[in-house]
Amino acid sequence: MVKLEVEVGGLRLRNPVMLASGIIGVTGRLMVRAAEAGAGAVVTKSVGPERRMGYGNPTIVEVSPGSYLNCMGLPNPGIDEFVEEIKIAKTGGVPVIVSVFGRSPEEFAMVAEKAENAGAEAVELNVSCPHTEVGILERSQRIVGQVVKAVKKKVGVPVFVKLSSNVTNIVEVGKVVEDAGADAVTAINTVRAMAIDVETCRPILSNKFGGLSGVAIKPIAVRCVYELYEALKIPVIGVGGIFSWEDAVEHILAGASAIQVATALTKGFNVFKELVDGIKSYLEKKGFKDVGEVVGAAHK
Ligand code: SIN
Repeated sequence: MVKLEVEVGGLRLRNPVMLASGIIGVTGRLMVRAAEAGAGAVVTKSVGPERRMGYGNPTIVEVSPGSYLNCMGLPNPGIDEFVEEIKIAKTGGVPVIVSVFGRSPEEFAMVAEKAENAGAEAVELNVSCPHTEVGILERSQRIVGQVVKAVKKKVGVPVFVKLSSNVTNIVEVGKVVEDAGADAVTAINTVRAMAIDVETCRPILSNKFGGLSGVAIKPIAVRCVYELYEALKIPVIGVGGIFSWEDAVEHILAGASAIQVATALTKGFNVFKELVDGIKSYLEKKGFKDVGEVVGAAHK
């Protein structure tokens, strides 16, 4: 029997395949479906202090097969309204991680505290949205450290921090959040990008810039996971371009203790089972007993 159970920053998961933030984590019921389909944990769409409409259409475009550019603009009902969805999500029986954003360390802390009170088993701080005015990381690494410290003061659940490759050195940011007390980092958020329509001669997205996800960003994500694993003591959660079990294993070999699935949900909910079964068969074939044995194996 191969052991797929993992522990990430104090959170136990039945398997390492998580639902990433931003895709279907908008309602409790959809997160329950992800849990029923085999996810080891679910991460909600990012939630802020108050209701936010997001950008007008177009907000998403497929730029090449399996690669999408999106700029939703962090639409969400606000944490007070979202509490009910967190409670429903918890009936799925797997850890619910609430993705949190704010305009200041105090707002992050307030939203995180409300998420914990609603039953969140962990929070993931979205300091790295590549295209909104609340993109904290674009302002300063110092503020990112303050955000982590403020949240750690207010909550007892594990605090994960979602990082971005849209910086000169992701390891520097990883060290800042580790020193501030983060329990794990998630890498990576979408990659800041743009597409222009040659007929209309205009940017396609209403916001002009968006975040690239899917197939195109996997090598960037794997590089970031590898660098972070080498430099940090806290665990790394890998996300970016994971469509197949091979992609998942690549992230794990680079150093991911768990992985998140986002764009691959375009294939349907069975992607969770497909990935879990694929990782398990790979471990069996290679003679490993525990998924932990291959975390970071590419470094040896
Ligand atoms: C969005 O809502 O526009 C995406 C948020 C993110 O990429 O962090």
